[in-house]
Amino acid sequence: MTFDPKAATRTPPKKVVFKVKRYNPETGKTWWDEYEIETYRGMTVLDALLKIKEELDHTIVLRYSCRMGVCGSCGMIINGMPRLACQTQIAEVATESNPVVTVEPLKNHPVVRDLLTDFTAFFEKHRSVKPYTIRKNIEERETGDMEYLMTPEEHEMLYEYTLCISCGLCYSACPVAASDKRFLGPQALAYVWRYVADPRDEAWRERLEEVDKDEGPWSCHYAASCSAVCPKMVDPAAAIQRLRSALVKYRMGMYKKRVAKKATRPEGQVKPKKPLPPEAQTLPGVDLEALEREPPVVPVEQLLA
Ligand code: SF4
Ligand code: FES
Repeated sequence: MTFDPKAATRTPPKKVVFKVKRYNPETGKTWWDEYEIETYRGMTVLDALLKIKEELDHTIVLRYSCRMGVCGSCGMIINGMPRLACQTQIAEVATESNPVVTVEPLKNHPVVRDLLTDFTAFFEKHRSVKPYTIRKNIEERETGDMEYLMTPEEHEMLYEYTLCISCGLCYSACPVAASDKRFLGPQALAYVWRYVADPRDEAWRERLEEVDKDEGPWSCHYAASCSAVCPKMVDPAAAIQRLRSALVKYRMGMYKKRVAKKATRPEGQVKPKKPLPPEAQTLPGVDLEALEREPPVVPVEQLLA
C-alpha cells in the first residue's frame, strides 16, 4: 500500500521542488519543468500541482475530480510509484534532505498531454468483463423491491473487491500490461473474481469460460506490483490466483458450484410505490410515468451475450 494515513500529521519541508514531466502531442516533444513552491502541513501533491497551475504555470494539464481518493481520476507516477495525487501528502514523498518530488503520467496508459492519460482501452477491458451482477429473472431485477441475502462469510469473500475505484494504478504498475496490450490486467481480472465469488451472480460459468484465455489470468507473472500500489488495499494479485485455482477446478469438473441465492421480498413488506419528487413532476415535456413503464434499457439477453 502506498498510502500513509499518518503523513498528514507531519510537517513537510518548507519549500519543495516539483519536477513535472511534460508532453506536447502537437510537437511530440517530451521535457521536464521544475517549479519551487512553499508548502503547508496537510498539503497533497494534487494541492501542490494546482498551486503551480494557479500561480506559476497554467499550461500544465492533469485530471482530477473528487480530491478525496474516491473518483480515481488523479493517478500519476509520484517519485517513481503510481499513486493518487490527492491522497499523497507532500510529507510522504519529500524530506528536508531531499525536498524534490517528481511527477509523471501513469505508465501503460497512452499519454494525452503532460500528466493526462487516456483510459479508453483500460475501461474497454473493464467493460468487457461485464462488471455488474447478472440475474436471469428480469422481473426480479426490475421491480426493485426484492433483496439478495448473503451471509457475512460470503460478503467477506468479495467486500475487498468492491472497494476498487478503477483508478488504474495497478494496471500502470503491471509488467505484463506493459508488454502485452491484450492482457486484461489486474483491475479487470479482480472484477471477474469479484463476480464469480458473488453468491448473487448467476453468470459465474459464463464468466469462467470467457476469461479462460491467454489474455486472462494465465498471463499473470505474479509480480504482485498491482497489489503493492493499490490505494484502496484491494489485492488484485490474490484475485488472479483465486481465479486460476477456480479455472483449474472448473476444467476438471471440480469447481464447487454455488447456487445463486433467490431474491426475496423482505417479510411483511409490500413496497409502496414511491411518489416522484416534486421537482421531477415539473420537467417540461417529459412523461416520467410513461418512462417508468418502459422496458429496461439493457435487455437481460444482452447482459448475458
Ligand atoms: S484494484 Fe486498486 S489500484 Fe487497481 S484500479 Fe482498483 S483501486 Fe485502483
Ligand atoms: S481526485 Fe478523485 S481520487 Fe484523486
